[in-house]
Amino acid sequence: MNAATAASRLVIEGLNKNYKINGGEITALQGIDLAIREGEFVSIVGSSGCGKSTLLRIIAGLENGYSGDVRIGGRRISGPGLDRGMVFQEHRLIPWLTVEKNVAFGLNGLENDKRDTVVREHLDLVGLAGFSKALPHQLSGGMSQRVAIARALVNNPQLLLLDEPFGALDALTKIQLQQEILRIWEMERTTMVLVTHDIDEAIYLGDRVVVMSNRPGTIKKIVPVHLQRPRDRSSYDFVQIRKEIFAEFFAEAEKPFAYAI
Ligand SMILES: Nc1ncnc2c1ncn2[C@@H]1O[C@H](COP(=O)(O)OP(=O)(O)OP(=O)(O)O)[C@@H](O)[C@H]1O
Ligand SMILES: [Mg+2]
Repeated sequence: MNAATAASRLVIEGLNKNYKINGGEITALQGIDLAIREGEFVSIVGSSGCGKSTLLRIIAGLENGYSGDVRIGGRRISGPGLDRGMVFQEHRLIPWLTVEKNVAFGLNGLENDKRDTVVREHLDLVGLAGFSKALPHQLSGGMSQRVAIARALVNNPQLLLLDEPFGALDALTKIQLQQEILRIWEMERTTMVLVTHDIDEAIYLGDRVVVMSNRPGTIKKIVPVHLQRPRDRSSYDFVQIRKEIFAEFFAEAEKPFAYAI
């Protein structure tokens, strides 16, 4: 293990993932190498089907049957754990539980009053203090995603995995939630990995933007973002980084498209 990987929270080496489908086999991920530092914010962009969710699910411990090595804090991943929180594109709240019960759902081993305090703190953190007794159907899409973020953070994970968490939201709500997640990251310093289709979102939030190729998903390029936060999306430097990433996308778009196995 070299110095860079020793200091890393998450280390992925030579990761390959195949799926059996329709009697054939497809390669979803090929030769992925990535080391993410403690407290780093890494964005991942790539076109639909390039393996972004597969990569997050492997890190979350929700996928088996891959080759290569994925380690967190030096230990190989062997299943889901409380050290990792995940937010999905759809909020996945339990419809018959109140907001506070949804957030408390994953909290294990705490006495009731401590549990209430932790839930309250996390609802405060995402700006939903007044909605603890509401049911999911009484919330807007943005509020539901806030609850999902609170639920993912409630066990104080070392790593937060975000799979297109704002993909279904309108432009303004999306920008508000990006600012929220930035504020939470600055406060908590949780290591974050964000998958997104939105290149501006990736640049706005990430210390680095990982650009993936079309299937088989490989890492095409890693673009560092050395801009002070909060970032100005219309600044010259921001626009230059956007151009660089778009150029990679256009190169991918020129390849023949095929979902075929
Ligand atoms: N459970 C599965 N069984 C078989 N194939 C799968 C499975 N999950 C994903 N795949 C395949 O793996 C490839 C990558 O899928 P994945 O969901 O990781 O893509 P993605 O980059 O997240 O796409 P999107 O941006 O549309 O969410 C796709 O070709 C998909 O068909
Ligand atoms: Mg996906």
